[in-house]
Parts: sequence; structure tokens; C-alpha cells
Amino acid sequence: FPLQIPELAKGTVLMRERSKVEETIQAMQRAGAGSLQVISDFDMTLTRFAHNGMRVPTTHNILDNRLLINEDCTRRIRELLNTYYPIEIDASRTAEEKQPLMVEWWTKVHELLIQQKIRKDMLARAVKESSAMLREGYKVFFDRLAEHQVPLLIFSAGIGDILEEVIRQNHVFHPNLHIISNYMDFDRTGVLQAFKGQLIHTFNKREGALLHAAHLRELQGRPNVLLLGDSLGDLTMADGVSQPQNILTIGFLNDQVEERKESYVNSFDIVLVKDETMDVPNAVLSYITSAGDAK
Ligand code: TMP
Ligand code: MG
Repeated sequence: FPLQIPELAKGTVLMRERSKVEETIQAMQRAGAGSLQVISDFDMTLTRFAHNGMRVPTTHNILDNRLLINEDCTRRIRELLNTYYPIEIDASRTAEEKQPLMVEWWTKVHELLIQQKIRKDMLARAVKESSAMLREGYKVFFDRLAEHQVPLLIFSAGIGDILEEVIRQNHVFHPNLHIISNYMDFDRTGVLQAFKGQLIHTFNKREGALLHAAHLRELQGRPNVLLLGDSLGDLTMADGVSQPQNILTIGFLNDQVEERKESYVNSFDIVLVKDETMDVPNAVLSYITSAGDAK
């Protein structure tokens, strides 16, 4: 491998077109950190999929705490997860087929959550008590982007208030961070009464990207994009970038590996199979942000 990125030779790395990946990374390095922006999904992309054989909770699942919701609500949300998660990751259905079902899933869960009168001042404790976990190497990832003033847009169909708290408690909430997500709307007494704005689910990120792009001034004039995701729906997160030059996409393939390998390799530039670390994104970023030393 001509590029000095040994991480790309790891056994967990799959690439459809190695030479195209190389060229893209090289072009991004030549353009420098000033031309770069990073757009990333949150759940199961920046957070781990599993740890010690146990699933790591998504932002929705972090709410599964008696401080916030009762047993009956936990049971119903679990039933919904068991119904709809297999659909979300089903390799035999198209994104179009999944769309209305994802709207159903998110709408039902959010309605259940609103009934629970969740208190804003309990969220931090629930996150603390959860087993939420960012991927190994997350600190290098967040810190390097901040150090080079590369904007990081986190685009999540999870819950914004929760993911912000996860990031804060891991001490990586830097000023270069922008977040598009489903935010809770609390009444004057601090009780959840609704969710704000347009609902974001796994397969409508394109609409969200187009809607929000204009407002994110800091992201304009940065035509090179590193995109990270774990769902094929995440690939549309960069659709709001105006006049993109180089887009490099990295996909974490966490689950249903054999069924989805082919479609992931055909869709993402780099696929990471059951890799719980940020090693590859970090190595790519280290290369891109290294200013023109002998390559
Ligand atoms: P993401 O866009 O940050 O990955 O967040 C979306 C994930 O959240 C998606 O993969 C499905 C997951 N999810 C749950 O785990 N539980 C839920 O109740 C819902 C609605 C989504
Ligand atoms: Mg995800």
C-alpha cells in the first residue's frame, strides 16, 4: 500500500477500489485541514456497538432507566426495538421501503417517552449510570479535529440532549462541534412535552442535510468531506454540502455482516468489519492533517 497508512492494511478493512481511496486521501491531504469537514453519525458510529459481549446502548436506550421511564414503558420500547430494528438493518429491503416503517418506529417511541414526563434535570444522571461508550480512540479523534479547527458535524437520528451529555461526560465537547439531531422540548417546569423540529430517522438524513446546510456557515467553503456512518442511510448526510470536491466515506459494519457486506462495500469507500475502534478514521485524519511533510 503506497500511502503511509498501515491501518488500512488491517484485516477488518474492506475497500471496493483501493486506488480511488488512495487518490482521494492524497487530494484531501494536499488541500489541507482548512478545506476539510467531518460529518459523522452518532449511535454505533462514534459509540461502540458492543463491549465485552454486551450491546452498548444507543441514545434512545440510555433512557431505559427508572429515573426517567417506568417498567411498562421499557417493555413497550423494547418490543418496538425487536419489531423495527430487524427491518432497519434488513438487507433485502430498500431504503424507500424502510422509510415509512422508521417514521412509525420513531413516532411511537417518542410518544411513549412524552407520556413519561421525563425530567430534564435527570438526564445527566441517567447518562452517568448507563453503559454508554464511545469507540476506542475517540479522544484522539475529537481532540485532533478541534486542534486543527476542522468542523465536526454530528448528524444523528438519536436524541440530541443525550448525545450531547455523552460527549460532555467524556470531556470532548469542543467548539468545532455542530449537532443535528432530535432534541427534546421541555416545558417551563423542565418536563418533556414534545420533540423539536422535523423528525430525523435513519433513512431521511438527506432531507435534514438539505434543510440545515444553509444555516451551518462554518461548514461552507470546505469542499472535502470525511463521512462516517454505520447505516446506508448515513451516506446521504453529505447531500447538503455545496460543491463538494472529495468525499471519503467510512462505514462501520457492526451487525448482519455476511448479509450486508456486499452492499456496504459497494456503497462506502472503506468498510470496517466489526471494528470497535477509531483507528482507521484517526489514521486517515492524521494523514490528511499532516501538512505536506515528505509523502
Ligand atoms: P444514529 O442516527 O445516531 O445512528 O441513531 C439512530 C439509531 O438509534 C438507529 O440505528 C436505531 C436506534 N434506535 C434505538 O436504538 N432505539 C429506538 O427506540 C429508536 C427509535 C432508534
Ligand atoms: Mg448509527
